[in-house]
Amino acid sequence: MSTNPLNQLKKHRDVISQRVNQVSPSGIRRFFDLLASMDGVISLGVGEPDFVTPWHIREAAIYSLEKGYTMYTSNLGMPELRHELSRYLKDNYTLDYDLDSELLITVGVSEGLDLAMRAILNSGDEVIMPDPCYVSYSPCVILAGGTPIMVPTNQENNFEVSATDIESRITHRTRALLIGYPANPTGAVIAREKLAQIAEVARRHQILVISDEIYARLVYDVEHTCFTTMPEMKENTILLSGFSKTYAMTGWRIGYAAATGEIIAAMTKIHQYTMLCASITGQIAAIEALKSGDSSISEMVEEYNKRRMVMVKGLNDIGLSCFEPKGAFYAFPSIKSTSMTSEKFAERLLIEEKVAVVPGSAFGQGGEGYVRCCYATSLADIEEALARMKRFVAKHRAS
Ligand SMILES: Cc1ncc(COP(=O)(O)O)c(C=O)c1O
Repeated sequence: MSTNPLNQLKKHRDVISQRVNQVSPSGIRRFFDLLASMDGVISLGVGEPDFVTPWHIREAAIYSLEKGYTMYTSNLGMPELRHELSRYLKDNYTLDYDLDSELLITVGVSEGLDLAMRAILNSGDEVIMPDPCYVSYSPCVILAGGTPIMVPTNQENNFEVSATDIESRITHRTRALLIGYPANPTGAVIAREKLAQIAEVARRHQILVISDEIYARLVYDVEHTCFTTMPEMKENTILLSGFSKTYAMTGWRIGYAAATGEIIAAMTKIHQYTMLCASITGQIAAIEALKSGDSSISEMVEEYNKRRMVMVKGLNDIGLSCFEPKGAFYAFPSIKSTSMTSEKFAERLLIEEKVAVVPGSAFGQGGEGYVRCCYATSLADIEEALARMKRFVAKHRAS
């Protein structure tokens, strides 16, 4: 007879909860494991800036450590950071958020997404989201007891989710709409007029909107529209954003949520018992980023834009049809001409030519037939990757 308590437990019931069992591990992880075991790979896989955090931001954090700032902060986040954030949202979007009740500093947008879902969902509530979309959206909903409802988007419509398609999926169980533009994995941006149509549907059906705007500052030749600025949407939107992509600060783990006092209080309740607060060093770095990070953003955006143009032209020249992404740092070409699944394409490209891309299917069924190529890497690497992909596609093009 087994004396291992875990085995004893297993006899009576499953050890792992049904909610967790419902979620598959991220489709991206398998490729990173494979990639880590290989030499000479050019990675267009990881969705993070190749820049290090600008020096003045790192310096502010180093200095804070020298001064001994190593303790917990308020659950909501440091007052000075919330003050800067409130100013930032006012200056950029003319939005007024009360820094003591309507802003919460989170451990990246990742935590913000989890808190938002757990704060608003009851078991079985439905959350509508575009397909393909960021890998965490659907798992966050499931782990909070909700049901994700996907709205397919496609290349012909520039991967923009439409108000009509959203409305056709609303039921009495619909609790919220979760969108993220500029989008990961497609790079799509939605124009203000279309967002206004979505806002009108959300208002009429009284559903909340969670808007993940982590790529808000990474847009090319277009303006980003903050969803919260839509008429009457400030009361009905949870705005999530953060520092990871804009300021090349992925490892600092700082994000924020802006919403009504009632929602922020609910999210804070979960945050204070699970996370307590975001790291003080990261928060101090974020204060410096908000105070004087604008010129660093402009330099990085200019560089991403050059790479974006080379990437998109190169992919189309190879015959991998790619719509022009207007935001984030991803290109999302169609690989349908090769007749491979996106997973097969990514796996063979990695093994045969040592180029890592992410299969579109990792972002939902709607991503099948595409791969995600992140261009937050050097121009030289992008050019070499394109040359290798050209060889690969010529070899495998369906005859
Ligand atoms: C759309 C989107 N939202 C959220 C995140 C997570 O960001 P953070 O580093 O702030 O947790 C990512 C990271 O890739 C993302 O692409």
